[in-house]
Amino acid sequence: MQAENTYNYRVVRQFAIMTVVWGVVGMLVGVVIASQLIWPALNFDTPWLTYSRLRPLHTNAVIFAFGGCALFATSYYVVQRTCHTRLFSDKLAAFTFWGWQLVIVAAAITLPLGITTSKEYAELEWPIDLLIAVVWVAYAIVFFGTIAKRKVKHIYVANWFYGAFILTIAILHIVNSAEIPVTFWKSYSLYAGAQDAMVEWWYGHNAVGFFLTAGFLGMMYYFVPKQAGRPVYSYRLSVVHFWALIFTYMWAGPHHLHYTALPDWVQSLGMVFSLILLAPSWGGMINGIMTLSGAWHKLREDPILKFLIVSLSFYGMSTFEGPMMSIKTVNALSHYTDWTIGHVHSGALGWVGLVSIGSMYYLIPRLFGRTEMHSTRLINAHFWIATVGIVLYIAAMWVAGVMEGLMWRAVSPDGTLAYTFIESVKAAYPFYGIRLLGGLLYLSGMLVMVYNVAKTVSGSRAVDAPILVPAVAHA
Ligand code: HEM
Ligand code: HEM
Repeated sequence: MQAENTYNYRVVRQFAIMTVVWGVVGMLVGVVIASQLIWPALNFDTPWLTYSRLRPLHTNAVIFAFGGCALFATSYYVVQRTCHTRLFSDKLAAFTFWGWQLVIVAAAITLPLGITTSKEYAELEWPIDLLIAVVWVAYAIVFFGTIAKRKVKHIYVANWFYGAFILTIAILHIVNSAEIPVTFWKSYSLYAGAQDAMVEWWYGHNAVGFFLTAGFLGMMYYFVPKQAGRPVYSYRLSVVHFWALIFTYMWAGPHHLHYTALPDWVQSLGMVFSLILLAPSWGGMINGIMTLSGAWHKLREDPILKFLIVSLSFYGMSTFEGPMMSIKTVNALSHYTDWTIGHVHSGALGWVGLVSIGSMYYLIPRLFGRTEMHSTRLINAHFWIATVGIVLYIAAMWVAGVMEGLMWRAVSPDGTLAYTFIESVKAAYPFYGIRLLGGLLYLSGMLVMVYNVAKTVSGSRAVDAPILVPAVAHA
């Protein structure tokens, strides 16, 4: 069949497979650093194995490699299917795949070497920043070019979320990475002091809002209705959800800088917008979950749907917890403690992880000319292993976090601190053990997925589906 008559699944296949590969790598590093927090000797006195270098490797690998590849794969698939047209440019799409893999490999080499800007989630040094910017512009051209040549008038809501994610990340990356190079591997931020911190957390929070949320909401709006075989619960709600969410996220960043040198009113503004953010976040969650109305029974038999719906429950949970933690008095207890780590991973493992995994289970057989994965029972096993893992991880961090916060603020009758810092570290040990167990379970689930994917792909043929004629078909 002529390429023009088919969708470009090649680049989707490449990104989908790498999602699984980078997922395993990133989570393995997560398990290593979780172990180091219990047994510090596991750095073997080797600089590139130290916690300080592996931690950013973990965050970059899981967010940008695992999450990023899942976003590229699904956005390229969804935009083609819902626009009934092939990607705008095969060459540019291939460039985004190889360019993004190069960024990831560069990160995997430079971070353990200690080459870092030291800005969280933006640690990569300026030459890699430039490469990211070029790849991202190519991504925007492919995505919006495909929208422009669509064969249907309507732009499906999933594409709105993907589009907002692509545009916003470009702006965030370029503004936050403005830096002055001094050598090939060293640069200094263009901003100074409190301004640098504010730009960094405007970036950091919106990286959560747009990289870890808006893009994955795009995924949710396509794969949940597809897998449930039902239309989106409310299309009107999805439009309100979209505008309210993208407007509100932009202002919430200062909640990361409570009780710092940032002006007090800016902190309060961040807090208020964070509280407002609960409404659009829950609007989206309700819209996703209610899509199952009339089809709840499917949840019993279909493990892919379980992944997708439980991911939404975790999304709801972490977007309730976030606004609570943004209240200054609550933040006075939670900040610097493991509570934050629990919040992060209920969003990361629960929401981002499960929705990506569910979408990959939907996608991978279709990309290789099969109707379903090699084993549905293994998908079910993966679901339960991962869910138990998440619960262990986040429950342990909540207990440890609240305990740390209370110990740090406890005072004796004579006004001195009741506990030394090291006593709070010792008290956290058992919970670090439970977290490690949770992480090991989550990683084991991924290994089950690797086996299932390998069995599905081997012996199958890479198939590019024919483009459907809009009048007769649904995407
Ligand atoms: C097997 C799974 C995982 C394990 C064992 C794990 C473990 C860890 C550990 C030990 C830390 C450092 C905590 C600290 O400094 O006290 C961490 C940080 C972090 N992880 Fe994970 N992780 C896993 C999966 C993920 C995934 C899938 C994501 C994202 C999609 C993620 C995102 C993050 C982020 C953003 C941080 C930094 C949090 C902060 O600075 O507050 N992790 N992880
Ligand atoms: C309504 C939505 C949300 C709000 C208002 C919110 C709010 C917050 C607050 C107040 C903190 C603690 C800041 C601190 O004390 O340092 C935080 C940390 C964090 N949240 Fe959320 N959160 C939300 C949703 C999410 C979701 C869905 C995810 C992940 C998918 C997420 C990922 C993170 C990360 C990675 C951090 C740690 C940042 C760092 O210090 O490195 N958040 N969030």
